[in-house]
Amino acid sequence: MIKRISLFALLAAAFGVASCTGEYSWVKNGIDTAVYQLEYMDGAIAGQGKLPRGIIMDFDDGFIASQMGVPVDSMKLKHPDPDKVGQINLTKITGWTSGFYPGSLWIAGDITGDHALWEKASEYTNLLEPLRSYKGTHDLGFMVWCSFGNALQLQPADSVKDIVSETAANLAGRFNPGIGCIRSWDFGKWNYPVIIDNMMNLELLFEVSKLTGDRSLYDTAVTHARTTMANHFRPDTTSYHVVSYNDDGTVESKGTHQGRSDSSAWSRGQAWGLYGYTVCYRETSDKAFLDQACAIADMVMRRVTTSDAIPYWDYDAPSLDGTPRDASAAAVTASALMELSESVPDGKKYFDYGEKILRSLSSPEYLAEKGTNSGFVLKHSVTSLPHGTEVDSPLSYADYYYLEGLRRYMKIKGISYKDL
Ligand code: GLY
Repeated sequence: MIKRISLFALLAAAFGVASCTGEYSWVKNGIDTAVYQLEYMDGAIAGQGKLPRGIIMDFDDGFIASQMGVPVDSMKLKHPDPDKVGQINLTKITGWTSGFYPGSLWIAGDITGDHALWEKASEYTNLLEPLRSYKGTHDLGFMVWCSFGNALQLQPADSVKDIVSETAANLAGRFNPGIGCIRSWDFGKWNYPVIIDNMMNLELLFEVSKLTGDRSLYDTAVTHARTTMANHFRPDTTSYHVVSYNDDGTVESKGTHQGRSDSSAWSRGQAWGLYGYTVCYRETSDKAFLDQACAIADMVMRRVTTSDAIPYWDYDAPSLDGTPRDASAAAVTASALMELSESVPDGKKYFDYGEKILRSLSSPEYLAEKGTNSGFVLKHSVTSLPHGTEVDSPLSYADYYYLEGLRRYMKIKGISYKDL
């Protein structure tokens, strides 16, 4: 796969690539729509000191119960303030999604060469500067690597290096060597909860380890990934959402928080695992991580049965017309598959499936019309159906991984925005 792609890139550079009316018009339309929407969003939220996450949505209790397969009177759901329904759900900087909008601006500016987008990206990224001393969550990787991490790669600066380094130290401070994992949440009923999503925060540790030479960050990431591999996965390679540990390192419980049931395959969780182990292989060259990523990818391709490859919110949700899709899970999966396709000799199957997802997300069913969707790029994602939170809403992280996936797709294909 690596050789085939390199040859394609060379040929594309030599002979030019398809014009915007041709093969890649869907890519150009996706990018142009994203840029329009990101700027539109800036107009809607500028000056508030908060970042966009999704849209505040109301829901029908009976519908949620039917999706969960439980009696409606067993649900105790809190509905949003009716005056706020339809408004953009803004997160404060300590929310786990705070890095995605700045990150999308960085990536969109990188793809298009429009550095005015980077000025905006800088403004929103700088809002997050106080996170350098925040220790209250494992999500520091999402928050700081998607924002400052993109900044560092595109406009290297010592001041940014300091911020990501301090954040990585704080994330590693949540690691318990006796358990072999970073603690995810500080709330809830669990003794020591570790969620599959936490695999996404390891990239920050790997990157800062390379920047500073601090090997302990690398070791922490590897140990977390190995412990998670041992305890989070079922024999069919689907994963539990939440595994909690006792203080002696034994497993206290395995279950879900945002999925349909303790034994179900919550869609975004499968995507986080796939992406996380793909990164672990990139950073370590450890074949066990590559095998894990491939096993998850093969499971995803087997289990997602929708014709457009955009999964329902949970792989075990009822297969009905009205069952909500999760475009965010699809976008994370597509971006991960682009990278995985270049890591194995038979990567074409991963590339083709990832391309199928990106094409679906770029269709009118998922891609917003310019000036609609409150400034978000993609429609139809779900934050947490069991909690009635942002069910069938746009989400900033769907937009982020969609753009990242398109950038990876273009790199593999050897196409640049100016040629589209
Ligand atoms: N990391 C939280 C989520 O995926 O919803």
